[in-house]
Amino acid sequence: MVASFLFGITFALSQHVLYSRLHHKVPDDLDKRIRLVLYGRALAYCSKITFGGCIILCYRQRIWRTFREYALSVWAIDRLFLATEDLSIFLHWETWGKATLPTIMALVIWLIPIATIIFSPGALTFGLFVEEEVTTLKVPTLNFTAESYKDFRVPVEKNGIKKKSLIFVNTTDPTAKEEGWFDYFDKPASDLERVSLMSAFSLKNQSLNRADARYESCGGDFNCTYTISFNGPGYKCEEVAHGIDDDVKLAKLGAPFNTSYLAPVGRLAYFAMVNIGEYARPQTGVGRQGVPINITDDLGVFKTEPILWIGYSMNTTDPPDSRFADTWTSKYDPYVFSCVHHETTYTVQYDYIGPYFNTSVEYEFKEPIIDTTYARFDDGVVNYDEFVPASAFVSPRENITHYKKTAAYHAVGASLRKFLEGKIEVEPPIPGPTYARPYSDITKTRLVKGNSFPVANLHVELQKFYADMILSLFSAPNLLVVAEQGGVVANTTRYKATFIYTPAKLWACYAPVIFFTFIFLLIGLWTVWQDGTTFSVGFSRIMVTTRNSTLDDISRGACLGNDPFPMELMNTRLKFGVLNDGNEAEYMGSDGLQGPGHCAFGVPAELTPIKRGVPYAGLQLPKARRKEKTE
Ligand SMILES: *[C@@H]1O[C@H](CO)[C@@H](O)[C@H](O)[C@H]1NC(C)=O
Ligand SMILES: *[C@@H]1O[C@H](CO)[C@@H](O)[C@H](O)[C@H]1NC(C)=O
Ligand SMILES: *[C@@H]1O[C@H](CO)[C@@H](O)[C@H](O)[C@H]1NC(C)=O
Ligand SMILES: *[C@@H]1O[C@H](CO)[C@@H](O)[C@H](O)[C@H]1NC(C)=O
Ligand SMILES: *[C@@H]1O[C@H](CO)[C@@H](O)[C@H](O)[C@H]1NC(C)=O
Repeated sequence: MVASFLFGITFALSQHVLYSRLHHKVPDDLDKRIRLVLYGRALAYCSKITFGGCIILCYRQRIWRTFREYALSVWAIDRLFLATEDLSIFLHWETWGKATLPTIMALVIWLIPIATIIFSPGALTFGLFVEEEVTTLKVPTLNFTAESYKDFRVPVEKNGIKKKSLIFVNTTDPTAKEEGWFDYFDKPASDLERVSLMSAFSLKNQSLNRADARYESCGGDFNCTYTISFNGPGYKCEEVAHGIDDDVKLAKLGAPFNTSYLAPVGRLAYFAMVNIGEYARPQTGVGRQGVPINITDDLGVFKTEPILWIGYSMNTTDPPDSRFADTWTSKYDPYVFSCVHHETTYTVQYDYIGPYFNTSVEYEFKEPIIDTTYARFDDGVVNYDEFVPASAFVSPRENITHYKKTAAYHAVGASLRKFLEGKIEVEPPIPGPTYARPYSDITKTRLVKGNSFPVANLHVELQKFYADMILSLFSAPNLLVVAEQGGVVANTTRYKATFIYTPAKLWACYAPVIFFTFIFLLIGLWTVWQDGTTFSVGFSRIMVTTRNSTLDDISRGACLGNDPFPMELMNTRLKFGVLNDGNEAEYMGSDGLQGPGHCAFGVPAELTPIKRGVPYAGLQLPKARRKEKTE
């Protein structure tokens, strides 16, 4: 009994261990997967056999106790012997009434397979779970330094893709042989123009990306989050005027216009001057193959990066100032800001979730790309055609790597600036009608809302707009600046189809089984101790416990054991005990004293109860003890 119980627990634990090992794992081989599942079921079957076996042993012990305590009909006795194969025991009131405990044990024996074989394998399922990992990935990044080393004469190929520069250049010598030759910036390359156009015209508040960006960046069908950091161009914008007549600072900075241009004083809702000092194209007269005819000293030299001077006026719901009340019905609030092109360290967090992605961008502005300002005439008036200091100019003849990178930055900036230049005029409501007249490409971008007025906080939105344009370069992996950065730490999540083990489910099946088996085991052991002997239900046991002449009498005429059996016999009540007239010669002790009693089934009247320790026929007791008991 005890061994059975312990084996049962061992099998249950083995099943637990097997399932724990399979948890969140999946063997690639389908056959192996099936085999592992079958192993689990085999263990469930083994534990059913052992737990069931333990209870059956206890049950057998216990029914003999019942036979001794109650006179039961032959019918009920039959049922008790057959309980493990025949369900009719549970339909019989007599078994429930008189043999309650054995009947409950029999019920548990019948229920064990349901818990173990049927339900316990249900603790292991096959399904999707979210796998979270911290890994290092190889992700796309931008490397503008790569532009420094690009020579248009030498094609760069990577992974079979021809890498393209952000800039087109002209040269003084296409063969690169002449003394003192140099290449100089021509214009932004077509790929850059395309990307900036698509990004600017996109109404999504987001950068463009390649369609398979998540697969490529996250290294498979994952969701992932990572942060990259790179240097690129960025516009550092600063609000320099807010409100009517806030012009002092503007004049000091040499702004080309002031708030008087903007509504309500002026008639503009938006005004931008973003091309002061723009790189001239052509630089000089060009001949064949873009070779300049006469090479001047400042050919190809970047003297400045144009400052963005942008003014806009916001319509408000407040009433207008009294001095504008005769033309405006609401208060217009003018702003002017300036943006200077800086080399910027971008820290971008990419969140790929499902088909979408989010970016959050942080900027750290470093030094201006070209650190020059407007020159002034002797009377202090700003000279928008000259820039100082000349030492900060970037020339294509010296420091070529710096020149090429500057040219790339300049090209990206120029791609933005072409959307900003221009103005939006607004007609005052009095005398009316009021309407806006756009003369700028900015109205085609998301920086202008449907009502033809720029969005609020334009100087902040513009920086984001520019950052999105730069990040959109990722949508063109054939660009030279799109590089790869390895070893980026990323959090990845994905759905994975694996085995999923729920220990609670397994133990919910086994806990009641173990509990009842343990209780019955204790009852069984207690009964064995009380009875002083063990009992079984084999044919031999039936044979020796029915050697009673009364039984011979009542069973006369039913010797074949055939069905149906005479009802009269089935209803006879029998009990197990010591036969009163059991002192026949064969049971007498050899010494002639009172011999061991004869135990058998019989009618209650002829029986006395069996007592523990009394040496009935068939019990082998140590001689000394037998003697002691017989005294
Ligand atoms: C950027 O490109 C340059 C030139 O190809 C290379 O030397 C540098 O290591 C790259 N930087 C990064 C961060 O990949
Ligand atoms: C603003 O600009 C207008 C037109 O150029 C000019 O007449 C006016 O004096 C300027 N105001 C200030 C304060 O500089
Ligand atoms: C470069 O050369 C082309 C002709 O090949 C010319 O149209 C263009 O203006 C030149 N660019 C500059 C910046 O001079
Ligand atoms: C400006 O705002 C006022 C008040 O909200 C509104 O009545 C007026 O139509 C607006 N003007 C324009 C041009 O949208
Ligand atoms: C990625 O995240 C989204 C949103 O949380 C979710 O719907 C999707 O199932 C996730 N995909 C994977 C592969 O984890």
